Amino acid sequence: MRVIVCNDYDEMSKKAASLVASQITLKPNCVLGLATGSTPIGLYDNLVEMNQNGEIDFSSVTSFNLDEYYPLSPDNDQSYRYFMNLHLFDRVNIDKERTYVPNGLAEDAEAECAEYEKKIADHGGIDLQILGIGQNGHIGFNEPDENLISVTHLTGLTDNTIEANSRFFASIDDVPKKALTMGIGSILKAKRIILLASGKSKRRVVRELLNDNITTSIPATMLKVHPDVVLICDKDAYSEMYLGVDIGGTAIKLGVIDSFNNIVYKDSIPTQKNVTAKVIADDISAACKDIAARYPIGSIGIGTPGIINFEQETVSASNLPFDNSPIVEWIREETGLPVLINNDANCAALGEAIVGEGADENDIFMVTLGTGVGGGIIINKRIYSGKKGGAGEIGHMCIEADGKPCTCGSTGCWESYASVTALIEQTKAAAEENPDSILAKVIAENGKVDGKTVFEAMDKGCEVAEKVFDKYTSYIAVGIKNIVNIFRPGAVVIAGGISVVGDRLLKPIQSKVGTDVPIKISHLKNDAGMIGAALLGKDTRVL
Ligand code: GLP
Repeated sequence: MRVIVCNDYDEMSKKAASLVASQITLKPNCVLGLATGSTPIGLYDNLVEMNQNGEIDFSSVTSFNLDEYYPLSPDNDQSYRYFMNLHLFDRVNIDKERTYVPNGLAEDAEAECAEYEKKIADHGGIDLQILGIGQNGHIGFNEPDENLISVTHLTGLTDNTIEANSRFFASIDDVPKKALTMGIGSILKAKRIILLASGKSKRRVVRELLNDNITTSIPATMLKVHPDVVLICDKDAYSEMYLGVDIGGTAIKLGVIDSFNNIVYKDSIPTQKNVTAKVIADDISAACKDIAARYPIGSIGIGTPGIINFEQETVSASNLPFDNSPIVEWIREETGLPVLINNDANCAALGEAIVGEGADENDIFMVTLGTGVGGGIIINKRIYSGKKGGAGEIGHMCIEADGKPCTCGSTGCWESYASVTALIEQTKAAAEENPDSILAKVIAENGKVDGKTVFEAMDKGCEVAEKVFDKYTSYIAVGIKNIVNIFRPGAVVIAGGISVVGDRLLKPIQSKVGTDVPIKISHLKNDAGMIGAALLGKDTRVL
């Protein structure tokens, strides 16, 4: 099945009309299979216009309609015969004698169906079949069932279809409960098929058409066996995918999520050193273009460290060559796609809130313990950025008046006590004060101190290391207590490199904070930022 995704209904209708017009031009006495429903109305309007402009001639065309309600008079304004006259036959130079619609008043429905099937065959079969699709995946009136009928037949309508189609009738009780319809086999015998789908209500079923499954519970999936089907749909009907870019100092992670937030693709490219911001943006654009050529990308979301000017969409970051750099504009221009941006910690929080540990909550607070301490506030499943961005900088909350000086110029910031950088400093200081400790020996053996050192010493039974870690988790707990008191979020989620130790970190923090607010460890780990960046393009609110 080939897929053409159009921007909107008008574009979709024009595209379909141009294909029908080509068919009529190539074979003026062709046999068209026609469909009803609201979807092909735009196509018919375009054909009417082309006919009136002299671009196409219907005088030798024969048509067979897919279906008709039963019992229903052709004069009834809800009959498909009436619909076709109204939208096409009465407006073009087609010979009405050659327009066939199953007779909704036939006394012997079975005989009518057999005759209809034969008539199609007598005309040499259908050259081009137009199809719409029901929300439940029906084509014509071939409803989901264990057994699908191949030939034209009388069928009952499902409650779903009766309800969906009741919008055209005065009341749901007026919708006929049966219909005559071409069978799946009659449809599949057509030489070419154009399937039209428009609007969000078709998104679920379109998605089913794009996977590899064939099932009688979604009859349209039978079309996958036909060699010449083109699905023309608008963006609303197409289940869009979202590209997320997580910019880091050493690597740039890229990933695609589908409309159900599943990761369908991920990759990373190195962050080039000693280059300009434009070179990095161009690397990102090239990777995004490559991905967009393979996936139906609706938007690109970017998570970046540093400070974002949301009005000008520029970024400044100390560990990247970004200095008020218009990376959004650069990437938007190169890729032609909508580009959104937010802070990387906020993106990670959003990812965690939607598909991670916060998935069951509307409001979460995410704390990232790394080189510094980052934060992300999610309210009603959306990032809270503050008036001009910059909200959630929880690492610079003061936990000790006149405390340690911070890189931000202030003193006593939480990050100076609770970051991994702070843990390393605390580890070093304790080893210096206790040169005979196991901790000091571990450091001497390793020749360095990092975030793991304290755990290594604790594993060897070092009491000094135990004390360091106990103090460190107390610092973390102080900050989380503040967060809980101010926000009372549905959950506090802890992320960052040190979170890999899991319960060893979590348990002491939980007991020191002592709250009923769940405190959890991120389970998306390194993917949270990329997923959250992708989610920037989606409306994640709980409505
Ligand atoms: C009816 C028709 C189908 C059509 C479907 C979708 O049930 N029998 O042929 O595809 O409606 O209608 P719409 O395009 O209005 O969504």
